[in-house]
Amino acid sequence: MSNSTTIKQLLCIASAAALFTFSASSSAAIDVEAAKSLARANNCFKCHSESKDKDGPAYQKVAAKYKGKADAEARLITHVTTGEKAKFPDGHEEDHKIIKTKDMAEIKNLIGWILSL
Ligand code: HEC
Repeated sequence: MSNSTTIKQLLCIASAAALFTFSASSSAAIDVEAAKSLARANNCFKCHSESKDKDGPAYQKVAAKYKGKADAEARLITHVTTGEKAKFPDGHEEDHKIIKTKDMAEIKNLIGWILSL
């Protein structure tokens, strides 16, 4: 094997690795604007804010509560898609709002954003 072949092979491996790293991180990246506009369109901010408790807990609190929990995403997807009982500060309970979209990628992006706060 000549030296130049070896260098070409190395370059090829290096660029493949770079490409892989790039695509792996970009697929996990959160589109904050899309997350917020989905939340706005669904009136989530009527009861939630990023940092202040309203009728619902601040999203930063939710993120802290689920930090390090492996099932956080699945748990919160269930929470926003099934209308499970939500407890309000005054003690009454009602079905939690069900998000209008069925697009799982959009929902995961929103949940990912909440968990990143
Ligand atoms: C009418 C008020 C209201 C609206 C609108 C609302 N929520 Fe909530 N949400 C609540 C309340 C109250 C809780 C607390 C539930 C509990 O602890 O039982 C909650 C809890 C949550 C939690 C935390 C759940 C957990 O397991 O800790 C998340 C995440 C959440 N809401 C997301 C959303 C999203 C996303 C939307 C918009 C699609 C939304 N909420 C719209 C009232 C609301």
